[in-house]
Amino acid sequence: MSRIVLTGAAGLIGKAVHRHLVAEGHDVAAYDRDGDGSSVASADVMDATWMPRAFADADAVVHLAAYPGMWEGTPDEVYATNTVGTFRVLWAAAEAGVPRIVYASSINASGIPLHPEPRWPRAFPYDELEPAQLGDWYSASKAAGEDLARVVAARFPVDVVGLRYPLVRDLGARGGEPFRTHVADLMREDPRRAACDGFSYLDLHDAARAVSAALVAPSHPECAVLVAAPTTYLRDDTAEVLAALAPHVPVVGIEGRSVALDLARARNVLGFEATVVLDDVAPHALHAYLE
Ligand SMILES: NC(=O)c1ccc[n+]([C@@H]2O[C@H](COP(=O)([O-])OP(=O)(O)OC[C@H]3O[C@@H](n4cnc5c(N)ncnc54)[C@H](O)[C@@H]3O)[C@@H](O)[C@H]2O)c1
Repeated sequence: MSRIVLTGAAGLIGKAVHRHLVAEGHDVAAYDRDGDGSSVASADVMDATWMPRAFADADAVVHLAAYPGMWEGTPDEVYATNTVGTFRVLWAAAEAGVPRIVYASSINASGIPLHPEPRWPRAFPYDELEPAQLGDWYSASKAAGEDLARVVAARFPVDVVGLRYPLVRDLGARGGEPFRTHVADLMREDPRRAACDGFSYLDLHDAARAVSAALVAPSHPECAVLVAAPTTYLRDDTAEVLAALAPHVPVVGIEGRSVALDLARARNVLGFEATVVLDDVAPHALHAYLE
């Protein structure tokens, strides 16, 4: 059993991670700005005063507290919390001698999906080395978080793993209907963004499993690792949809409904592969785009 400190424990992913780590037998100290007075203590990541005590003797810190999107707060709130809050947690954890930090980055760290101009990756599938094209404050905050993680990893004897989450949801919630609606709206309103996300998603259970994998990965892991289900939320062949939406972007070796992301780093560095796919949980939620 390890002693793990978790931030953002009252959030969507935080609750699932909390449950998962407790089920694995860890001793989890859970914090969130919106604590519940019992299993989740109230603490703000913008205020570092509580951190040295909370992080002392921890085996790992899992940092999820953030604004998870552009419009979840004002641009100032989103950028400040996701950068300064992340810096304070990572720095305080490293200073306290915590040997491993796992934190939530985002597929948006590349900036491409949320860019206000019609930007594209150089080719599909793309990986963590795709050059960033930043055009919004949320993506910029996630890219900065990865840079801050590299700074901390360079200056302290700590292993830092950043998980580039895609769209994370409880796929089976209410029979898959909220997920079906979300994808249908996204494909109608912003198919370029969906394509630049690789048409990717990850079930909450796998989001929590990815944290567990990152906690035990061999030393010197990566500050940015894309994690996603192996197939898309579309019924159509991925390469056909990409050819329709972005005929100018090369597509190399994407078979069938494979996600348009290169997940080799997750497999090789974390030994992580997602196990929950929409086809099994809520097949009616798969979206037909080309029909
Ligand atoms: N859900 C997704 O699809 C998704 C995708 C990519 C990345 N992520 C990242 O995963 C992480 C968790 O996202 P989520 O979907 O669970 O979001 P969420 O909003 O459900 O949870 C975030 C939690 O952080 C807490 N929080 C915010 N500001 C805080 C502060 N200053 N101090 C302490 N706690 C604070 C909130 O109260 C909330 O409980 C975030 O870093 C997000 O950027 C999420």
